[in-house]
Amino acid sequence: MEMQKWIMSGLFFAACAFAVVLLFTLPGKAEVAEESKPTMPQVTLDAASAEAIVTANCISCHGDQLQGNVGPSLQHEGSEHDAEGIYSIVSKGRGQMPSFKDKLAPEEIANVALWLAEKK
Ligand code: HEC
Repeated sequence: MEMQKWIMSGLFFAACAFAVVLLFTLPGKAEVAEESKPTMPQVTLDAASAEAIVTANCISCHGDQLQGNVGPSLQHEGSEHDAEGIYSIVSKGRGQMPSFKDKLAPEEIANVALWLAEKK
């Protein structure tokens, strides 16, 4: 009985030590996301310009009413992601979604991100 107690507390101690080591060696998930997220420039929303950019670059995959096609619907994108999140996806691309960082200016992507983030 006494032996078992020792083994149990030994195991418990080892588990705690392991957890502490993990805590300090694994970068937090939030940290990783933060680091890989491009910084969105500050812009004032210009809805007309955002619509023109989206019509020229996005509706082929997301549908002319943003209802979705090859890509998912963006009609309620603001409920899925905030402007920063959308900015990151559009800049870097994701899966079948191409990156737009060489095609659009950061300010244009930011404007589109603000516009889409308002669609809740
Ligand atoms: C070649 C087709 C294509 C084009 C062009 C395209 N997209 Fe996409 N988009 C996709 C696909 C496919 C996904 C799904 C990506 C995934 O998660 O695998 C996607 C995902 C997204 C998402 C994330 C949706 C979510 O909530 O998960 C956003 C936001 C988005 N696109 C915005 C845009 C914008 C803005 C443009 C124009 C500047 C654009 N897309 C142009 C195909 C496209």
